[in-house]
Amino acid sequence: MPLPIFYASRDGHTRRIAERVATGLTAAGIAAEPINVVGLDAKDLAAVPYVILIAAIRYGHHLREAEAALDIYEKLAKKPPLALASVNLTARKPEKCTPQTNPYLRKWIKRRRLTPDLAIAIAGRLVYPRYNLFDRLAIQLIMTMTGGVTDPTAEVDYTDWNGVDAFALKIAGRVRALQPADT
Ligand SMILES: Cc1cc2nc3c(=O)[nH]c(=O)nc-3n(C[C@H](O)[C@H](O)[C@H](O)COP(=O)(O)O)c2cc1C
Repeated sequence: MPLPIFYASRDGHTRRIAERVATGLTAAGIAAEPINVVGLDAKDLAAVPYVILIAAIRYGHHLREAEAALDIYEKLAKKPPLALASVNLTARKPEKCTPQTNPYLRKWIKRRRLTPDLAIAIAGRLVYPRYNLFDRLAIQLIMTMTGGVTDPTAEVDYTDWNGVDAFALKIAGRVRALQPADT
């Protein structure tokens, strides 16, 4: 069974990140496929040797289906190791990509009392022309407060794709370490 790369996405960018992680893992010899986390159940999670969850932020919160997946994860009798990635715009600053420095990721881990094997924040994508007026104004406000782009025609992909590839390679190493060595 390919290793699922669970993702929670609204506008598709987090799905693209999950696809890239799956491609990286597969290239490293571990077959993987992106899976939307909506509707996940305990059976799906319990069967997985290493849980990878990549979730977008909206209005300060990770998408609710990602929270639901963690509700299930928390109740597993035997929890597989967890790799967690939070997709948000704060992570566009390279110094805000770790569990210590990214506020969304830090609060998520703390609030849920998680002990992830790996955790990173990945910068998302900004597409002002696609947002409705309310969303655009809200995001322009966030960007003004943090010294970012406010031009209403701006479309910016902030994702560090090399960083995503490096994340995939790290996961590959961890998953490989779980497998019994060939004799
Ligand atoms: C309505 C809306 C609200 C958002 N709220 C936040 C936020 O509070 N903090 C943040 O860092 N990014 C925020 N973002 C940025 C998203 O996390 C980013 O665009 C991400 O790439 C979206 O992923 P998706 O395409 O998989 O849904 C928001 C984006 C939208 C559209």
